[in-house]
Amino acid sequence: MAHNDKGEAMQDLSDGYVEVDGVRLKLSQPYTGSAQWIGQREILMQLLACWITVDEADLPLTPRLVGAPGMGKTQLVIAAAKEQELPLYIYQCTADTRPEDLLITPVLGQNGNISYHASPLVSAMLCGGICLLDEGNRMNEKSWASLAPLFDGRRMVESVVAGIQIPASSEFRAAITMNDDESTFEIPDYILSRLQPTLKVGFPNRQDEMEILRYHLPYAEAEMLAMTVEFLQTSHQLKLDFSPRDGINVLRYALKRLQQDSTHPLSRDEAWQEALERCLGEEASDLEELAKRKKRALGGEAVPLGLADLFFDPDDPLHPDREDDTDDDDFE
Ligand SMILES: Nc1ncnc2c1ncn2[C@@H]1O[C@H](COP(=O)(O)OP(=O)(O)O)[C@@H](O)[C@H]1O
Ligand SMILES: [Mg+2]
Repeated sequence: MAHNDKGEAMQDLSDGYVEVDGVRLKLSQPYTGSAQWIGQREILMQLLACWITVDEADLPLTPRLVGAPGMGKTQLVIAAAKEQELPLYIYQCTADTRPEDLLITPVLGQNGNISYHASPLVSAMLCGGICLLDEGNRMNEKSWASLAPLFDGRRMVESVVAGIQIPASSEFRAAITMNDDESTFEIPDYILSRLQPTLKVGFPNRQDEMEILRYHLPYAEAEMLAMTVEFLQTSHQLKLDFSPRDGINVLRYALKRLQQDSTHPLSRDEAWQEALERCLGEEASDLEELAKRKKRALGGEAVPLGLADLFFDPDDPLHPDREDDTDDDDFE
């Protein structure tokens, strides 16, 4: 059922259409897949708290979920929407998302008439659902600018294409996910200040990581699960960015290789090792070495080379600039 707080401008035409200020809009379909969030209860509670209103005058917050790719940001929002029992609309942000893609797109019909399609975001606003703007860091400033009035006290957007203002239902909620990788736009502060708080999705602990893998691959043997969890936990300790998604992919490929009917069947170890190298690259088979190289690369950017660097390896105990062991964790 679609509705609007003011009640005047919008009419529910059923059959997936609504009318706003005399303009007929075709609604997007909500996401119907399900997802369970395993472990890390605190981050789920933090997200759900953003969507609570504590008084009639209160407004919900639109948080920004940040973290490395594959950490579970998208999964968290899907699971949270399910917990709220509200329809979820997902908009996948890309570098060439235009404001009209985010809001209302005109579509030319066979009879030459133009019909207007509401984006997942506008559909969530009209139907009182949750909108996930996924990978929001990929979207450019112009598109973000069209959302400024939505994420402050005004809670509305203006579609230039359809010539209408669209107020959000009081039930409307949103969350943004952002990867911390390089392929991103710099989002201006006036937008970031509307996307608060920032919630950091971190690595799961050993027990949760085992549960996550088991949830996605319930048919995997204990030994293969254990190898994968061990790998992931070691990489988390070394502050490398391998994620639960990486673990799921390695395990999935290893299981497929094991299953294959071949004249020289692979051992579990071989299948797992091969999957690791094919999915994450050869360097993933020596995590300690990879961590050292990462540390060197980061240090190399920050500190100019000195004369001693010509004679000593950075880890050489004789290197005059060598850090104390106690500082070893500070390379992030
Ligand atoms: N806490 C968790 N519970 C269940 N599945 C998880 C959890 N964390 C990560 N995953 C799984 O890891 C994979 C990557 O998660 P995803 O949400 O796509 O990551 P991101 O959006 O951060 O890139 C998905 O298959 C997801 O289901
Ligand atoms: Mg994602």
